[in-house]
Amino acid sequence: MFVEFTLNGEKVSAEVSGETTALALLREKFDLTGAKEGCGVGECGACTILVDGVAVNGCLYLAGKLDGRNVLTVEGVGGEEALDPLQQKFMEHGAVQCGYCTPGMLLSAKALLLKNPKPTVDEVKVAISGNLCRCTGYTPIVKAILAATGEGK
Ligand code: FES
Ligand code: FES
Repeated sequence: MFVEFTLNGEKVSAEVSGETTALALLREKFDLTGAKEGCGVGECGACTILVDGVAVNGCLYLAGKLDGRNVLTVEGVGGEEALDPLQQKFMEHGAVQCGYCTPGMLLSAKALLLKNPKPTVDEVKVAISGNLCRCTGYTPIVKAILAATGEGK
């Protein structure tokens, strides 16, 4: 099937099969490798992307459903001249170690702040509860997200 959608602000199109996942399409056709395949079954969040502002697991989301939608990957967050506040705070708080979870974490945080610019600690924890990190112990990540809202240090 043929899909047309907006990807990081640009109109794109692709021919996809009924089984193609959004993750495979983004990585293999568009060379956007920020979203990672970790578990492949919806448990780790390494593949998180935003579809119409909502965080979804790219490993489970079928590419055919992207038609007409607005997709954001980590490559579309911030830019070379100016990092997104979330990226800046992740760096400042040591919220990135191996980095495998980081694109997904950033996008789950982004989805949260889009709908709730001043979340509580608990709301941040819920928002990233589908994103596994083996390195940081989560505390720096939660602090970084709160700092990006102007709360916390
Ligand atoms: S790779 Fe998609 S949730 Fe783990
Ligand atoms: S920084 Fe390594 S998995 Fe999160």
